[in-house]
Amino acid sequence: MYPAYLEESIHLVEDTRVRRLIEAIPRLAEDEKDDLLRQYHPDYIATSMRKLQVGINKGDSTPLELADLLEGNSRIDPGRIDPSKPDYNVDVLVIGCGGAGASAALLAHEAGARVLITTKLRLGDANTVGAQAGTQAADRPNDSPAIHYLDTMGGGHFENIPELVEVLVKDAPSAIKWLEKLGVNWDKASDGAMYELSGGGTSRRRLHSARDYTGLEEMRVLRDELQNKKIDYLEFAPAVELILDDRGQIAGAILLNMETEELIVVRARAVIMATGGIGRLHIQGFPTTNHYGATADGLVLAYHAGAELIFIDTMQYHPTGAVYPLQILGQLVTEKVRTLGAQLVNGNGEQFVMPLEPRDIVASAIIRECQERQRGLRTPNGEFGVWLDSPMIDILRGEGTIGRELPAMVRQFRRFNIDITREPILVYPTLHYQNGGIKIDTDGATNVPGLFAAGECTGGVHGRNRLIGNSTLELFVFGRRAGRAAARYASEVKRGSPTLEHVRRWQKDLERAGLARERPVSPRLLPNYVRRAHGYTRAEI
Ligand code: FUM
Repeated sequence: MYPAYLEESIHLVEDTRVRRLIEAIPRLAEDEKDDLLRQYHPDYIATSMRKLQVGINKGDSTPLELADLLEGNSRIDPGRIDPSKPDYNVDVLVIGCGGAGASAALLAHEAGARVLITTKLRLGDANTVGAQAGTQAADRPNDSPAIHYLDTMGGGHFENIPELVEVLVKDAPSAIKWLEKLGVNWDKASDGAMYELSGGGTSRRRLHSARDYTGLEEMRVLRDELQNKKIDYLEFAPAVELILDDRGQIAGAILLNMETEELIVVRARAVIMATGGIGRLHIQGFPTTNHYGATADGLVLAYHAGAELIFIDTMQYHPTGAVYPLQILGQLVTEKVRTLGAQLVNGNGEQFVMPLEPRDIVASAIIRECQERQRGLRTPNGEFGVWLDSPMIDILRGEGTIGRELPAMVRQFRRFNIDITREPILVYPTLHYQNGGIKIDTDGATNVPGLFAAGECTGGVHGRNRLIGNSTLELFVFGRRAGRAAARYASEVKRGSPTLEHVRRWQKDLERAGLARERPVSPRLLPNYVRRAHGYTRAEI
């Protein structure tokens, strides 16, 4: 239930519905998009970024919160750990177990490698389970990987690494079939054909979904398959540093047992980094859609070991995060709500942006509407918001559509006495995804021999702005590729002697740059909800 003053604004939204049934908001021209991004997208706030002073990406800009961690002090004292005395000895160590880590582990196992997964929280606690709308793959007669390629490049402002996009779109249909074989219940039409919708920036209907809990369904089968294959895993055991050998190759990782606080040494011929996102750093104080463990650990570990990062100055703010009630601040209101016909409407009941422009455009338009034009609304807690007019869906597509297509959304709001079939949803951009990350090739290999990476902790596939449904796709495409490639690498590599010399070197570099005292320890592992200078201060949790 909304407070009375918001109910009054809802009447204005209701009053314009008939007009909006036939009102088409034109797409923006390219120069209008550029202007909008430059003026309103959070990535363009220069004071929110700084240049890195140490490491392979020295000189590159990144958000302050991420810069602090990338330049953080190691959690370990290399003098007190002997990396040549392992607690575990495996071919492939997978760090992180969302969709990318699970896919990588399954394919490495299938290729004959001895695999160990280690995960900071529980198996499958990852952003994957929060993915709602679907997974893209061009498998309809009017579509093709080439069209999917163009959409993806366009969404990323043509800065994506072309080779990565090529394998993303070409592997996509087989990834969907693989998941179906493992047991994913894709939405289908009565004749058995895939039921597919479009999304922002996609020119064809190619989102494969399980209603609005697609990622949860995908992770369900992957987790089951890991158990079926009896792949070993450790829970509550995040990696805190990588181990290299005297040839500069990967030799394993140091893990932390979060219960006993003991360190665990894992010797591995290859490591696959699949630690996911960074939303819990709350860049610029934004709330987030991300799960509790999304604290950039993989980027930090890889960076300390000399792996190159790419596009670390670009974040994705999902246009529609919930802003009311406060309990669900920042939680995802799936893009599928707009795909199905919901419009974005300001406090006067007027549309102000074509709802299926790419995400960075829609997010910027919402910020402009609230800040410059003062046509947004304020919640009782002082959050800005605009209306996402969900009841339009049933008006356009017939009664019952919302209940059928968006059961998780309906439940999420019903808990707070908001009926999204009759009342709009108050939304504002929320930190959703990192467009950049560890630089990889088409097999997930990094510039550090033996270190592979897949999923949200990598960069390059999405350029400067990811499209809906390409993130879950990326997990399966690059997770599978990295798993296969890491197993092959592990079977061929000539090993050297394990060492933590790079950690000593890292600390010396920090000291030389005068940073050792002022930087935190990293990886952070868990979010920090203590009030701080440039942290999460908009609402207390
Ligand atoms: O809006 C969504 O359901 C999010 C999907 C995605 O990030 O791909």
